[in-house]
Amino acid sequence: MDTANIQKSFDLAGKVAVVTGGAGVLCAAMCRALAAAGVRIAALDLNTEASESLAANIRSSGADAVGAACNVLDRTSIEAAAQVVLAKFGRVDILVNGAGGNKPAATTNPEQRFFDLPADALRWVFDLNLMGTILPSQVFGKLMAGQKSGVILNISSMNSFRPLTRIVAYSAAKAGVSNFTQWLAVHMAQEYSPDIRVNAIAPGFFLTEQNRFLLTDKKTGELTTRGKSIINHTPMGRFGAPDDLLGTVFWLLSPASAFVSGIVVPVDGGFSAFSGV
Ligand SMILES: NC(=O)c1ccc[n+]([C@@H]2O[C@H](COP(=O)([O-])OP(=O)(O)OC[C@H]3O[C@@H](n4cnc5c(N)ncnc54)[C@H](O)[C@@H]3O)[C@@H](O)[C@H]2O)c1
Repeated sequence: MDTANIQKSFDLAGKVAVVTGGAGVLCAAMCRALAAAGVRIAALDLNTEASESLAANIRSSGADAVGAACNVLDRTSIEAAAQVVLAKFGRVDILVNGAGGNKPAATTNPEQRFFDLPADALRWVFDLNLMGTILPSQVFGKLMAGQKSGVILNISSMNSFRPLTRIVAYSAAKAGVSNFTQWLAVHMAQEYSPDIRVNAIAPGFFLTEQNRFLLTDKKTGELTTRGKSIINHTPMGRFGAPDDLLGTVFWLLSPASAFVSGIVVPVDGGFSAFSGV
């Protein structure tokens, strides 16, 4: 393959991408970058207003986008969103399972012991991250199976390789996301088409709404002890910026990674390679 063809293999122009949690910090950056590369974007989010406003913003830049309400934990809601996407674009080439997160009630601290964490908080985190990845993969994966092509990208986390302290359900759920990524990659290739690929990225630490309460002090905005420890364990010495994910995302979504399926790629400033010594 010559250089021009290698560059062409990253081309995603004209593809249709569904991004769940599309209005969130990391996924909105992905939506904007994909749209700028000619991808038609369907930003699905529980926060309907935010997804519609993101889509309007993308359209104002001359690209094509639709925002739609979607609860990734409710199959009826996902199917309704799929109808909106199909009515607008007629097909789905890419699914990014971006919806996910953690919450304080499912996180241990000196006042909140593991033994006392409420089951509904643990279940909320587990469901959002794991079921919220599986259910949209059923709905949009079925469309991909019908057309015998497609790419699914899940969002795992550092804590899927080795759990992080305090965030018990989030760690277990993201480990589940990595495991499901491998499972679905095999299943889609064997049962439906080798042209359906499933991969994941495992972002390191990005300061967003879901982890701000753990990494910065609410009053002062200074880094917490945990925030400082993360920076000390990240050889590149900083948090990630949403745009740091984009090169890996484009690679995994495009034919540039045509023979890659079932992997989880850390994008972490070296965090997962560092033993701390
Ligand atoms: N921020 C980090 O450091 C980090 C690290 C590793 C992985 N991740 C993962 O990356 C993804 C994006 O995270 P982010 O940091 O941008 O978070 P974010 O909170 O900014 O975005 C999450 C989005 O998901 C939406 N959402 C929540 N529940 C939903 C539901 N039931 N149905 C549909 N949408 C729902 C929210 O409205 C929000 O727009 C998540 O899966 C997160 O777990 C984040």
